[in-house]
Amino acid sequence: MYPDRDAHAGEGRGVDTHGRDADGDEAADANTGDEKGTDGSTGEHHAVTLCWRDGREERVDVGANETVLDGAERRGIALPFGCRTGACATCTGRLREGDLLHRRPPRALKPRHREAGYVLLCVAEPRSDCAVEVGAAVHSELVSNPWK
Ligand code: FES
Repeated sequence: MYPDRDAHAGEGRGVDTHGRDADGDEAADANTGDEKGTDGSTGEHHAVTLCWRDGREERVDVGANETVLDGAERRGIALPFGCRTGACATCTGRLREGDLLHRRPPRALKPRHREAGYVLLCVAEPRSDCAVEVGAAVHSELVSNPWK
């Protein structure tokens, strides 16, 4: 358990770290759809726009039970990652708009990071269409750099 699991990251975007009901099943969501995703699944999926600081953007369909990192990799888009368990923060992105759910606690992020919209893409599943800033520059904002 962690204290701010219900916190949302601000207006126009939200990071939720649960989303499952008391039985552990995924909770109902108004944004469900039966369309077929690019991964061939028939479950709910959302358009996730990945935004790099140099202005590049890529849009990927990501299943609701798939992480943003996995969805990007499935499309051949390389994003930084390390542990894939929410522990190292190498995969940090910053949510611009939309909703993401952390499927497991984003241990590498401090509460102030989560409140500022930072997310861990290795454990983040989309709950709506969303836009996320990605790339190594986003991760570097989390720590102070004594050489800068
Ligand atoms: S890859 Fe380590 S927290 Fe995501």
